[in-house]
Amino acid sequence: MNDELSGAIEEAAAIVKNARHVVALVGAGLSAESGVPTFRGPEGLWTKHGEPDLRDYDRFVEDPKRWWEMRISRQSRFGEFVEALDRAQPNAGHLALREMEELGYLKHIITQNIDNLHQLAGSAAITEIHGNRTKLRCVACAARWPLDEFPIEELPPQCPLCGGVVKGDTVMFGEPIPRDALDECSNQTWQCDCMLLIGTSAVVYPAAGFPIDVKGMGGHLIEVNPNETPLTRHADVILRSLAGEALPKLVQRLREMAAEGERHA
Ligand code: APR
Repeated sequence: MNDELSGAIEEAAAIVKNARHVVALVGAGLSAESGVPTFRGPEGLWTKHGEPDLRDYDRFVEDPKRWWEMRISRQSRFGEFVEALDRAQPNAGHLALREMEELGYLKHIITQNIDNLHQLAGSAAITEIHGNRTKLRCVACAARWPLDEFPIEELPPQCPLCGGVVKGDTVMFGEPIPRDALDECSNQTWQCDCMLLIGTSAVVYPAAGFPIDVKGMGGHLIEVNPNETPLTRHADVILRSLAGEALPKLVQRLREMAAEGERHA
């Protein structure tokens, strides 16, 4: 481990250890080491195929039956993304976040990822601001179901609770973020005095605004990213590394600090 990184790990561990309410804001970079393409950057999905336009959700609302027919026939121009998601397993970065939660340091994960890898890694306190690809959601009452627990008997499927239209839980371009998810993100941000910014380019709102709120309330920001982002200049500590390498080292240092603390107690 180079000196610069080990010094930054030391600083980050000290901040996390002394923080009251640590929240991780997670982006596609965390799942990159699980083989899931990121969106921006040279190999990014949007860079290669172009970003979906903001009328995506309007088209769904105009003709939800057609949207479902396309979905069922897997007609997507992002086939490689879907296949990568189907194959993906949690990596050392996801597992380190679970450990940080179990050790009591990490209180919540706000993830922009739809890949369900936090749950597969065993993390518990999670808000998926862009939804979860393994779930369905009613657009009217926001009730959600695991995909395999909701038999599709008609197109578009109707919500058994309110009669609303059911769609994939993934938030589409142009779709408002579900109220319950947004409220929980605000609740966690409000309590947060240390936010880990993990593998996000921090250009998509409202997620990219949460760290600024934390900073504005006097909290600390720790960026974990091999590249600079618009949040780098606001960060107190920068772990210029891959998440799957830096996060396990951060957990290891926290464990050592806890042991040192016990020895001196
Ligand atoms: N570890 C940590 N960070 C990484 C790694 C890695 N192994 N690999 C790449 N990164 C960083 C990149 O440097 C970049 O800053 O992850 C970031 C990925 O940025 P984006 O592709 O823009 O992903 P994200 O920030 O999650 O995008 C936000 O945009 O299009 C929407 O809905 C989509 O949720 C997504 C949102």
